[in-house]
Amino acid sequence: MSQLSGNPDVPDLGRRQFMNLLMVGSGAVTVLGALYPVVKYFIPPSSGGTGGGVTAKDALGNDIVASEFLASHAPGERVLAQGLKGDPTYIVVESADAIADYGLNAVCTHLGCVVPWNANENKFICPCHGSQYNSQGKVVRGPAPLSLALVHASVTDNGKIAFSAWTETDFRTGDDPWWA
Ligand code: FES
Repeated sequence: MSQLSGNPDVPDLGRRQFMNLLMVGSGAVTVLGALYPVVKYFIPPSSGGTGGGVTAKDALGNDIVASEFLASHAPGERVLAQGLKGDPTYIVVESADAIADYGLNAVCTHLGCVVPWNANENKFICPCHGSQYNSQGKVVRGPAPLSLALVHASVTDNGKIAFSAWTETDFRTGDDPWWA
């Protein structure tokens, strides 16, 4: 009964356990520290802070900063950026200090060519088979069967332009989104 209390090692045992705990603790920190870059690798860098969306990227892959973007583009312009899933996506310049709250997926709904903006015609005109879309991406001439897909566009708290999925009614047609 008095084995423990009579054992001079008891206080040491406590200390040893404490040391073991420390070792396990520091080991866990080491393992977590080592895992962090691995885990981080699998999380897209732009997934944070944009509510499930992505930060719009320019042709060089840099995040697009709204103030710089607006300073270098005129109202009415449609400017290609890299959007959700890497799709080419137009940012619509609404005014000198605002982008539209929607962006347009530039992939033609006919056979998938990237559709350029034609400022003179105020339309998107597909070079592949001549489909046309109005300035909001609504199809106005075939063979494309559907309008360009919409995304939400916004400026994040850190001043960058971000895209997120558009799952609501297509404001151009009043229909459910065909792309959702
Ligand atoms: Fe655009 Fe055919 S791919 S019209």
